[in-house]
Amino acid sequence: MKKRFLLIGAALLFFFHQKTNAQLRQTDKAWWKEAIVYQIYPRSFKDSNGDGIGDLKGIISKLDYIKSLGVNVVWLNPIYSSPNDDNGYDVSDYRNIMKDFGTMEDFDALLKGMHERGIKLVMDLVVNHSSDEHEWFKQSRSSRTSPYRNYYHWWDAERGKPAPRYSLFDVHHDAWRYDSLTNAYYLHYFSRKQPDLNWENPQLRKEVYDIMKFWADKGIDGFRLDAFQFAAKDTTFPPFPKGYEKNFVLYYAMGPHLHDYLKEMNKEVFSKYDVMSVAEGAGNSFQDAHDLVDADRKELNMAYAFEAVDLPKYPNGYSLLQLKKVFSKWDSAFAKKGWLSIFLANHDQARMVSRFGNDSPAFRELSSTMLTTFIMTMRGTPYYYNGDELGMTNIRFDKIEDYRDVSTLNEYKYQQSTGGNLQVFMEKMKFSCRDNGRTPFQWDNTANAGFTTGTPWISVNKNFTQINAAVEEKDPNSVLNYFRKIVQLRKQNLVLVYGKYTLVDAKNPSVYAYTRELDGKKMLIVLNFSTKEASFNAGNLQLNKARRLIGNYTAPSAAITRLRPYEAVVYSL
Ligand code: GLC
Ligand code: CA
Repeated sequence: MKKRFLLIGAALLFFFHQKTNAQLRQTDKAWWKEAIVYQIYPRSFKDSNGDGIGDLKGIISKLDYIKSLGVNVVWLNPIYSSPNDDNGYDVSDYRNIMKDFGTMEDFDALLKGMHERGIKLVMDLVVNHSSDEHEWFKQSRSSRTSPYRNYYHWWDAERGKPAPRYSLFDVHHDAWRYDSLTNAYYLHYFSRKQPDLNWENPQLRKEVYDIMKFWADKGIDGFRLDAFQFAAKDTTFPPFPKGYEKNFVLYYAMGPHLHDYLKEMNKEVFSKYDVMSVAEGAGNSFQDAHDLVDADRKELNMAYAFEAVDLPKYPNGYSLLQLKKVFSKWDSAFAKKGWLSIFLANHDQARMVSRFGNDSPAFRELSSTMLTTFIMTMRGTPYYYNGDELGMTNIRFDKIEDYRDVSTLNEYKYQQSTGGNLQVFMEKMKFSCRDNGRTPFQWDNTANAGFTTGTPWISVNKNFTQINAAVEEKDPNSVLNYFRKIVQLRKQNLVLVYGKYTLVDAKNPSVYAYTRELDGKKMLIVLNFSTKEASFNAGNLQLNKARRLIGNYTAPSAAITRLRPYEAVVYSL
């Protein structure tokens, strides 16, 4: 009897010991958790034919570069046929390639080239809305009795004007567009040329799953679901409280049946292929986010939470304490179950270094590599935006004519028509317009940064003569070569992928320090987010055996707890 108790006691002890030591169970492992995702904005990556627009052949010509980075997944922004009202986020044919980008043969060659190099491909799936030039929409608007009518959301004008809905990209912020052809309004959360699809219609859902299977059968490795949290709507369109548009996500995200649609999509598509899935947006709470990615629910693998990139967008608009709080909070919410993506930039954001670092000549390289260190040492799958590995910066256009982004162009018109302060608006755009992150990739110091032999669709940043891949390639201490090294460090150390995250000296306003722990291995990451020297309090951490694994200064620091401006170091303890 006694012996049995002892055994149970020992088993329990063992169990708790394992737990506290953050041990990895085989079942918790997954390739998409260990992946490092590199996001390519095809329009701005590499132009192969001199028309000024990046294309698939251009990407193919740079596959060895991509491989040399060490990343193992590429996420491509939409490459489907599109009139490009919103750079491909308005799809007119989901089974074809955008003319600007090439042909299906090019796509097949691209996929093959990636797979040959051990790189997986994730495609953007834009199915909250289509283009108004999609055949479905053309049919849908042609008559009230069209079999495609219910592929979209229509409101017959005899019923009066529907309750207001805010549109992100509309010149009047009005998401209902009157169409005289059938005397009805259609819904568009984004631009007028992006009518929202009606997910309540099972036929539409089946069409989408067929499209997904078409691509999965070609052998792609995953989907990024664009704006999908907005797909499910209350189609009685009740009025929302006054001022709701200031926080429209609260009303638009996670509508009724969203989880049903995802479960159905999982059953129809995800479960049949070895593909990863990630949703843009994670709802309004941890519970929402959990429900999307809890493996037991069989919906998605990952979601992006926007809280960090939604911190105030003006220069120095966020404090490090806020950033730490956001990331630590999300980490703890997912400590036991679920999985997150880690990112500081993408094609909808300003450049990482201009936004969260410091792009002045003195600190650009240091703060870029410091931020890269952060992304590569957090728990969650890193999503890294092309060009950030060079430390590319915001372009800060002065004139509205230089901008291409539909949201900025239409917001300018809105401000103009409502007597807004255009000067203030233009200043704001220098910091936050999406075009800041969409300027051509800076390959070398030849004309147009080696991006195109023609006229680029959007201006090249003038700093390309100093900031470009060719010069950085030659410098062992460049931002680019630091990126490569830290990618290897992450790939070789599962503790950086799965390890438990613990904040050190939480209240320190300048230094972000944390440990990662797994299976008896422990690492300490220290990041100085300021232009000045700074120290942190290591508390009861044992630093005597600390070994420096990587750092963004060539010479090691005099003391572990004392950091130089924007210094980043990873130690094994
Ligand atoms: C997502 C995309 C963004 C696009 C919008 C509409 O937010 O990331 O670029 O404009 O959806 O599709
Ligand atoms: Ca081209």
